[in-house]
Amino acid sequence: KNMVYIAILGYGTVGSGVLEVIRKNCPGIAVRAGEKIEVKKILDIRDFPESPDKDLLTKNADEVFEDSEISIIVETIGGSRIAYEFTKRALKMGKHVVTSNKEIVAAYGPELLELAAQNGVSYLFEASVGGGIPIIRPLSGCLAANEINAITGILNGTTNYILTQMKREGKDFSEALKEAQQKGYAEADPTADIEGHDACRKIAILSSIAYNEFIDYRQIHTEGISSISLADMQYAEAMDSTVKLIGLSVKTGDKIFARVSPAIVSKKNPISNVDDVFNAIVVKGNAVGETMFYGRGAGKLPTASAVAADVIDIVKHRGVCRSHTWTVGPGDNMIDHRDFE
Ligand code: HSE
Repeated sequence: KNMVYIAILGYGTVGSGVLEVIRKNCPGIAVRAGEKIEVKKILDIRDFPESPDKDLLTKNADEVFEDSEISIIVETIGGSRIAYEFTKRALKMGKHVVTSNKEIVAAYGPELLELAAQNGVSYLFEASVGGGIPIIRPLSGCLAANEINAITGILNGTTNYILTQMKREGKDFSEALKEAQQKGYAEADPTADIEGHDACRKIAILSSIAYNEFIDYRQIHTEGISSISLADMQYAEAMDSTVKLIGLSVKTGDKIFARVSPAIVSKKNPISNVDDVFNAIVVKGNAVGETMFYGRGAGKLPTASAVAADVIDIVKHRGVCRSHTWTVGPGDNMIDHRDFE
């Protein structure tokens, strides 16, 4: 079999997970992809003197980008500065890019998809929403025949973990957050998790795919869970309910409404039982009705599972552009949350 060489940018939680998954499941992956996939280089500015992967690590970006054998770049750096520059550089050089970086997809998705199309390569981001849960491809593929009317979900593992610990153990907020960080769920700066920005970017990405137009996350009303107290939790319990951070969007006619906020969810709603790092996304289509996607929404191997799947998808289709179509809409279809009934 031929060999396909890839490079990973960022040797953090997700990046090292991608290497691990590709190595661990190598034979099966080769069968599904039709070719063997090997990680040739890992770019990171940090030193990892103890790492068993020292041979692969480099601090020199040119070594990665100028290597014509490397045809797929996995971007797991996070943040939106250098990762954005590297993504553009890779696409311009005709390399496919796979990412878990929701910040970049939410902010620059249309531009990067356009750049990928111009260069005949793919830009895929299954891992950017819902960690290991299949959601981007199902939305743009299996549900493609539907008009999507609504998306509702728990889209952030860190906050769901914190809320679960508060509910079950009566733990306080900061202790639960510390645990979520230790487990590798939280963003480098957990403010993005706690204040709902991460969930906001994710509902923007899902909505853009579902409604075929770019939804700007900056227009989405967003509240996090920093003001949720144990008392709030107990009141919700007394009403046979629980508190969840919910991201949702609804399309009515050509108007789209989206928001992220804590909500009191009845225990009769299956979403109320989605605990710990698990996420769940309910998608309503006009042909299929309601579908629900559930799984681990953060963490090393679950997220790596989705990243590696995008790599396999590209190899399997032999480099034919696999990017999602995502037209930039007129941009005036978002309605203010106060107008929504
Ligand atoms: N910090 C994110 C979360 C990681 O907790 O859900 C997955 O995108």
